[in-house]
Amino acid sequence: MHRQLGTCYYPEHWPREQWQQDAQRMAELGLSWVRIGEFSWALIEPNEGELHWHWLDDAIEVLGAAGLKVILGTPTATPPRWMLDKHADMLAWDEQGRPRKFGSRRHYCFSHLGYRQESVRITELMAQRYGNNPHVQAWQTDNEYGCHDTTYSYSPAAAAGFRVWLEQRYGTIDALNEAWGNIFWSMQYQNFQQIELPNLTVTEANPAHCLDFRRYSSDQVVAFNLAQCAMIRRYCKAPISHNYMGRITDFDHFKVAADLDFVTWDSYPLGFLEDRVGANCERQVRYAQQGDPDFQAFHHDLYRAMGKNQDGEPRWWVMEQQPGPVNWAPFNPAPAAGMVRLWSWEAFAHGAEAVCYFRWRQAPFAQEQMHSGMRLPNDQPAQCWQEIEQLAAELKQATQVTNYPAEVALIFDYDAEFAWAVQPHAQASSYFDLVFESYRCLRKLGLSVDIVSPDVAGFDAYKLVLAPGLMTMSESLKHNLLHTSATVLLGPRSGAKQEVMRIPQQLPPAIEGVDLTVTHCESLRPDAPIELRKGGLIKIYREHTRADMDIIEQALDGVPVLLQKGSFFYLAAWLDMDGLVPIVEELCLSLDIDLCPMPRGVRRRQTANECFWFNYGSETQTVDGIELVAGAVVRQT
Ligand code: GAL
Repeated sequence: MHRQLGTCYYPEHWPREQWQQDAQRMAELGLSWVRIGEFSWALIEPNEGELHWHWLDDAIEVLGAAGLKVILGTPTATPPRWMLDKHADMLAWDEQGRPRKFGSRRHYCFSHLGYRQESVRITELMAQRYGNNPHVQAWQTDNEYGCHDTTYSYSPAAAAGFRVWLEQRYGTIDALNEAWGNIFWSMQYQNFQQIELPNLTVTEANPAHCLDFRRYSSDQVVAFNLAQCAMIRRYCKAPISHNYMGRITDFDHFKVAADLDFVTWDSYPLGFLEDRVGANCERQVRYAQQGDPDFQAFHHDLYRAMGKNQDGEPRWWVMEQQPGPVNWAPFNPAPAAGMVRLWSWEAFAHGAEAVCYFRWRQAPFAQEQMHSGMRLPNDQPAQCWQEIEQLAAELKQATQVTNYPAEVALIFDYDAEFAWAVQPHAQASSYFDLVFESYRCLRKLGLSVDIVSPDVAGFDAYKLVLAPGLMTMSESLKHNLLHTSATVLLGPRSGAKQEVMRIPQQLPPAIEGVDLTVTHCESLRPDAPIELRKGGLIKIYREHTRADMDIIEQALDGVPVLLQKGSFFYLAAWLDMDGLVPIVEELCLSLDIDLCPMPRGVRRRQTANECFWFNYGSETQTVDGIELVAGAVVRQT
């Protein structure tokens, strides 16, 4: 598979006369792919049943004639205005019980079966028309599921769907009452029709109720996506993708991906730093024009775990790469010189097949007029243009996508994310942050990491597996982690709850064959961390244990923090970097894993036959005899 470049293009925003020159320029620049169509429903079908395909036929033809391959997006993220006249109740409702209005995008409720039918209908019409079009070489379903907080809807359609889902899951209302513990506060229901969504309750709703609502909502995204995929497959053999976003964790991306042929994601490093990394002020300032050194890589590795070709090899892309300032973060700086190239190379280093820039040309109108593109609104090249030209030339010397099975795995589990969100136990405690900090720790040691699903068949391919925060654990996961040949670092908060959000009878982590129980846990104020004996701090969360295991590390007050039995380690606290890095470092050394502690801002990534070095910092750094100026990418073969 070749490393390729592409762009996101909106022919409908520009005069027809401009298309040909655009296409020619794209091809000359060395782009292979163009994604189109994903917001164009109202143009395709201005009134119900009145179909205007000619503009799209022409656009595909013009792009194809220039040698470009088209990724066609189904337009279901932007239902036209008339759709609301037809389905007045299709809007999602926010947590306050208010319908979310028309006038932007993603204005639909995943549970609305009428809208789901409409989305399948337009998908079928598109697939019928373009399924055999030689230029349409890939599909994208919808656009960024869950973006703008759209996974959860508190609408009547969602309530109705939730009741059916619950009845299928529990069978009888007595079983549900028992599972949820509804004897508490006299919450017993007499039938499924009485069950509401868990918003607007006087105080906290039952966490079992909340967790099931999250799972239900996630399943609706899966079902919505599957319905489109199944329809496209009836008419077409081209591979199907969806473009995920950064740090959207409210539906199970592994489950959606199971119905896709490849996964893509949208990488906006500067927008993310401001908006969702959660970095402190000092870090936000330091990396304002570069982005967080680990955040993009984390998502590359997470989404790489999802898309698979027929041989089980990863298949994933960056569908939207930030090209310059965005418009949607609290502050929107321009990337430092070289960063667009660096971000793109980093994606390839992590195994991307393609990197596509969002967008071809900056739009002079509507919501994203302050969002840069590869070209200015007047069609002059934008700042990133030269970097992309340089990259396109470099790719000619480094064409192949190469993968590399890492020695270290890190588990990411969406069900754990849901459970933490329902019961964080401390303000500002989040599963994502806990896992992300483990990832950062591994990367600071110069390691390449595979992020894996908790449902992988086993972990024997790895030397070391990190499994923080797995609040709900299946019996098979417990078994796999206990019986793998890999060294496992489990915890904190492992198996803290059964599937129905109850504390297990034998107390967590409740792993057969491990003499360890967490008797109680506590959460800590951010200004009251606890010191560790060997250095570093416990922050946010710690557990008190009873165990027949060796104590490797303790808090200053004597409470055990790291416990060991053979190759199984349990970490009973959330540690800061000064606490975590030495622990992981020691484990790696004992396992003969090649480490290379990184200077500030520098990261390394290995593929089968390459070693990449990236400098996200603004100072020159030297590592392993290599000098890396600010924004440098060094590729060694
Ligand atoms: C993405 C989205 C695009 C565009 C872009 C702007 O989230 O998929 O359509 O809005 O952000 O950065």
